[in-house]
Amino acid sequence: MSNQADAVSSRRYPPTSEFASQATGQASLYEEAKADRLSFWADQANQLEWHKPFTKTLDWSNAPFAQWFTDGELNVAYNCLDRHVLAGNGDRIALLFEGEPGDTDTYTYRVLTTAVKKAANVMTDLGISAGDRVAIYLPMIPEAIISMLAVARIGAIHSVIFGGFSAEALHTRINDAKASLVITADGGYRKGKASALKPAVDDALAGGHCPSVENVLVVKRTGEAIGWNAHDIWWHDAMAAASDEHTAEAFPAEQPLFILYTSGTTGTPKGILHTSGGYLTQAAYTHRNVFDLKPETDVYWCTADVGWITGHSYVAYGPLANGATQVLYEGTPDAPHAGRWWEVIEKYGVTILYTAPTAIRSFMKTGREIPDQFNLSSLRVLGSVGEPINPEAWVWYRDVIGGGKCPIVDTWWQTETGAIMISPLPGVTSLKPGSAQIPLPGITMAVLDDDAKPVQDGAAGYLTITEPWPSMLRGIWGNPDRYIEAYWSRFEGIYFAGDGAKLDEDGDLWVLGRVDDVMNVSGHRLSTAEIESALVGHPWVAEAAVVGASDELTGQAVVAFVILRHSHVAEAEAGDVNKVLRDHVSKEIGAIARPRQVMVVSELPKTRSGKIMRRLLRDVAENREIGDVTTLADSSVMNLISSKLASGAKD
Ligand code: WT7
Repeated sequence: MSNQADAVSSRRYPPTSEFASQATGQASLYEEAKADRLSFWADQANQLEWHKPFTKTLDWSNAPFAQWFTDGELNVAYNCLDRHVLAGNGDRIALLFEGEPGDTDTYTYRVLTTAVKKAANVMTDLGISAGDRVAIYLPMIPEAIISMLAVARIGAIHSVIFGGFSAEALHTRINDAKASLVITADGGYRKGKASALKPAVDDALAGGHCPSVENVLVVKRTGEAIGWNAHDIWWHDAMAAASDEHTAEAFPAEQPLFILYTSGTTGTPKGILHTSGGYLTQAAYTHRNVFDLKPETDVYWCTADVGWITGHSYVAYGPLANGATQVLYEGTPDAPHAGRWWEVIEKYGVTILYTAPTAIRSFMKTGREIPDQFNLSSLRVLGSVGEPINPEAWVWYRDVIGGGKCPIVDTWWQTETGAIMISPLPGVTSLKPGSAQIPLPGITMAVLDDDAKPVQDGAAGYLTITEPWPSMLRGIWGNPDRYIEAYWSRFEGIYFAGDGAKLDEDGDLWVLGRVDDVMNVSGHRLSTAEIESALVGHPWVAEAAVVGASDELTGQAVVAFVILRHSHVAEAEAGDVNKVLRDHVSKEIGAIARPRQVMVVSELPKTRSGKIMRRLLRDVAENREIGDVTTLADSSVMNLISSKLASGAKD
């Protein structure tokens, strides 16, 4: 870290007395949680409306498979919708939709409730019932939220697949979950252009490759021409014919709510399973307290896509459970112009903004002249998520976007944790740029060494969660053994998150990033193994190794090393190997996985047991001197790689 960064990160930003006195989350939360953790969580859960109250808070007898609020019954969608209408808030705005081309739409809680009731009837009429899986592959449009809530309302299970994923990724996920219905759109708008979605669904389903799928509901968004199959149904036709009467049935607290696929250390993505009562409790609790929510007056905006966990917990469930008013924006930050986000904030008077460090860094790069052209004075709380935020970006975010007056909450959590786990409370914590600081009230964590002993202050260790929490994953869809192996085998009875961290002298946590073969590119999780397997699926490639190299904008970037098949060297060298293989990965997985660079090498560095030494490849990818090579089976390999690269054979 530079001296300047050191100076920045040692500064403290205590809350103003004005903010502290009106804050939603007060210091008493820490005391209550410490005094009796389970009754603290029971109190949080009781802020929801239960059709049947629970009597048992936690059943951990079958650890690590938790059951929270287990004998209680509720309906998740009712809690996000009808409850607010019945409390007299039906006219409050739930969604302020801003399409990328500039079209807009507004949904009050009443209107949203009616739309979800109709969609629930549409799904029931299509034969979907409790426990069935519904795949959702949509742009960031209101129908995405409506679909998720309608699935929840009938006790079915959604699996939202990010619209940037390829047909191949869609196919794997649909089949793993055995989804019987897919909800998609003709397309959406991205970077000023219509971008088709339905063709990927058609490709995924072609030739009977997804035998579980019975119907595809298609939202008309762009109006572009699309292919049509016997199982396709227009969303607007089905909605027009559906009744708007629908009574929300109560489901058990542990009714599965959704599966969300995320990358692990091996090739196949993991279907992370979340259930109803505990998940909604923690999503709502964190959303209220971390963002200091005042539902009557705030205009909240989380820029994440619903295809990621952030979009599940902090676009769909948390804000709606809390009766918040939020902006839903379809597009990218830079279309049709570089000030698009700031224009949205000015237009709607956004008060709370939740986004990712990668976005902040790219705005920093283009300079403050752009945000300075807009009135951002409505903002009062800023959030960050997805990767560590470097202190310089933190300070820029606070000064330039927040006008020097908004607290920043750096929130650490994961797809698996379901909701925020580590974060300051904006009215309580004295903020420290670059540190996510302390576990939220009710959450217990520890930084452990190899022997499961807490590390001494300042030393690095493994970031672990020592007690179960309400929104924890309940398993991996269809694979209980992998759940135990992936999260509970490193330390006995303790959840290991996959991240390294250190604790400073104040007891604040600094997340250091993944310690496994998972990369973090622009806050998105990618597995090295998944990209390697895509690469070796190309006829030119004999072997591949992928590393995450540090990148100024995206945090990490994918860099691939490949060995070509002898039989294809000539053909590959005649073509543009770098481009062809990068395109191939985009097509197989999605544009987010596209390598920044593909380097052709003649050997890969391996240990005597045949394990690829990614550490050395990372040295090459980051232009560093190559580290210790003594454990290599053949120590000359690295010389070969670096001399080849030095001679200009890069890409
Ligand atoms: C991984 C989880 C949870 C929403 C987005 C990503 C990294 C996340 C932070 C943060 C440092 C962070 C971790 C974590 N991460 N937030 N505030 N500071 N690192 O969810 O795709 O499940 O990825 O993102 O490495 O393990 P995800």
